[in-house]
Amino acid sequence: MKKITVPDIVKMKSEGRKIPVLTAYDYPMARILDDAGIPILMVGDSCGMVEAGRENTLTVTLDEIIYHTRSVARGRTAAVVVSDMPFGSYQTSVIEARRNAARLVAEGGAEAVKIEGGRRSLRAIKAVIEMDIPVMGHIGLTPQSVHAMGGYRVQGKSSEAAEKITEDARELEKAGVFAIVLEGIPSQLAGDITAELGIPTIGIGAGPNCDGQVLVLNDMLGLDSTVKTPKYVKRYMDLKNIISSAVVEYVIDVEAGRFPSKEQSY
Ligand code: KIV
Repeated sequence: MKKITVPDIVKMKSEGRKIPVLTAYDYPMARILDDAGIPILMVGDSCGMVEAGRENTLTVTLDEIIYHTRSVARGRTAAVVVSDMPFGSYQTSVIEARRNAARLVAEGGAEAVKIEGGRRSLRAIKAVIEMDIPVMGHIGLTPQSVHAMGGYRVQGKSSEAAEKITEDARELEKAGVFAIVLEGIPSQLAGDITAELGIPTIGIGAGPNCDGQVLVLNDMLGLDSTVKTPKYVKRYMDLKNIISSAVVEYVIDVEAGRFPSKEQSY
């Protein structure tokens, strides 16, 4: 399989090709997604919630993202690995932002990093791009701002708020990001931003008019069907119940003395 690069991703927009993105946190899933042709594997700080059962993404550490990134990078052949810069890893100073982005690349094997925030994160974003580390922006509903937003709420509903998000998108493009995640904003606004920018937009809860779409893998596979999934998620399978049935079968086999059989014995 031919390696996909960051410039290839940017080119997909001008070629009119949609960009399917999924999150990945471990080696076996990274292999499956890469083989299936997903061009970007996103090591999101959503790992803190869907893999570690935490309430939000704010407690995820850089070391944890590096650990997940390493596993994902080992599992991919073609896809571009983009890793989240977690809360607190880029806001305190430009030097910290540079050092931490460099760790994600050097220790984790990331090929790009994602930084939440528009104009408020521009200094960090520019500093990281100056190191030749490609940056993906992330605006609209930014989960690291959950306390400031008062919850996970759709953003950009008023014309004033929509204008702020549009201006953020313009500034991010000017700063040199290679793509922007648009999360939790009205479809019309996402479509307008997508039409205006030369770089790809990747939507999540932002309607069909973005250049690409991203979903949290665990959500689309139905790994935790006890959790109420947001409206924008399409569940492609009910993996929780499939795994659960297999495990129940195993328990019954062991209890009945049917496993291991001769075939599984030395
Ligand atoms: O943390 C994450 O997984 C993300 C994507 C879903 C955009 O930020």
